Amino acid sequence: MNESDPEKKSQDPARILALQRQVKDLAQRLAETQAQLTADRVRHEMDIRRRIAEMEFHVRQRLQMMETVTEQLRRNEEQLRALLDNLPDIAWLKNPEGRYSAVNKAFSAFVGRPEQEVVGRQDGDLFGAAEAEQIAKTDALARREKRSLRFEGTLKGAAGVPLLVETVKSPILDDNGSVTGLIGIARDITERRQEEVRRRDEQERLFQADKMIALGTLVSGMAHEINNPINFIMLNASILKDAWTGCMPVLEAHYAQNGDFTVGHYAYSRIREKMGDLLSGLNDGGDRIKHIVQDLRNFARPDPSDMADRVNVNDVVQSAVTILSSKIKKTAPNFSMQCELRLPDVRGSFQKIEQVIINLIQNACEALPSPQKRIWLTTRTRPDRSAVIMSVKDEGLGIAADVLPHIFDPFYTTKRGSGGTGLGLAISKKIVELHRGTIEVESVPEQGTRFTIILPAEESDHS
Ligand SMILES: Nc1ncnc2c1ncn2[C@@H]1O[C@H](COP(=O)(O)OP(=O)(O)OP(=O)(O)O)[C@@H](O)[C@H]1O
Ligand SMILES: [Mg+2]
Repeated sequence: MNESDPEKKSQDPARILALQRQVKDLAQRLAETQAQLTADRVRHEMDIRRRIAEMEFHVRQRLQMMETVTEQLRRNEEQLRALLDNLPDIAWLKNPEGRYSAVNKAFSAFVGRPEQEVVGRQDGDLFGAAEAEQIAKTDALARREKRSLRFEGTLKGAAGVPLLVETVKSPILDDNGSVTGLIGIARDITERRQEEVRRRDEQERLFQADKMIALGTLVSGMAHEINNPINFIMLNASILKDAWTGCMPVLEAHYAQNGDFTVGHYAYSRIREKMGDLLSGLNDGGDRIKHIVQDLRNFARPDPSDMADRVNVNDVVQSAVTILSSKIKKTAPNFSMQCELRLPDVRGSFQKIEQVIINLIQNACEALPSPQKRIWLTTRTRPDRSAVIMSVKDEGLGIAADVLPHIFDPFYTTKRGSGGTGLGLAISKKIVELHRGTIEVESVPEQGTRFTIILPAEESDHS
């Protein structure tokens, strides 16, 4: 370049200026870009910080929520545990293998082991073999059916007393319907059942009492209606007997003179032999009806008026045996009697207790298959002299198991064909109860029967 070129010389400052301007522009743009970059960086930083803060907030929020939920769960579990532990019922949870995974306090108390000793065990470790088998069966049924089932059975715990329990077993199912466990709750229903039985007995007693009142009214009315015509029949029978005896000489004379003749549809010679039996048959039949009516009356409304005697049971027994002596001689010559001396007296009716003993001896005689078989009649007292015990034991045919529950029912008899009315034991039981005593029976078919009566002894016993 030639510096002496005047054109060139005149262009340089302008170029320099232009260049200077360019440099300035560039510097400014650089500054602007730098400022922009700085601003962007600051914005990004702030953005990131904000996001971090937000995330921190969320995380904290989540943590708090989790803490609340965990606390809630803990409280729920506590409440559930308190609920289960305060249940009087026995409750448990089993895993799918049938091992206990949790039990409540009542369960622990029942088996006599703390929960930590029960968890992991099976029924065979806690209950008897038969019970464990029964529990396994019902567990399996609830699992198979996949629904709650109710069972009833006995369960023996640490106390050794078997309880009657009602158990509800409910399988736990997952979302696929598979059984993942079994919940059980068992309630002791021994008392409830006893109460039900008591209530049923009471109802039955009231029902029986009502029936007896109705029967009493009916029988009294009926007895009155039957007794009048029976009295006529018996009175007329004895008049007829007298009249027949009076007619006999005349009829005999006629017979001797003219030979046999007919009376009604019968030959006199036959009627003459039969008439005595016919007339006594009327009398016996009437007597029997009277007895039955009287028995019915005694059964329906036993007369309580003669219950105040002081009675020596040995005297009663002796009197009953004397009354039945001819029957005993005929049917049971091997009859033996053993009376304890110095028996305490009982309060009641001599005649009524005698009726009971007569009924029992009669039944024993009627039960003997042959006269070689024996009957024992005994009286004794309890060692503390609080009661008198009478027993009539026979080597008779015994009483079949299906007959036994009915023998004290009025009109129940297995001797209908031979004239039994079925009132003997019903009346006897009534009389014994009237004396605040008990009557019990033990019998072995083909071997024999024993009736035992226990009467409370008179308190002011001087003997
Ligand atoms: N000692 C006994 N051995 C076997 N069965 C007996 C005995 N005592 C009672 N029974 C049975 O009990 C039933 C009822 O007895 P219960 O004395 O009430 O009536 P009954 O003897 O049949 O008739 P009734 O006594 O009125 O003449 C009898 O029919 C009989 O089946
Ligand atoms: Mg009888």
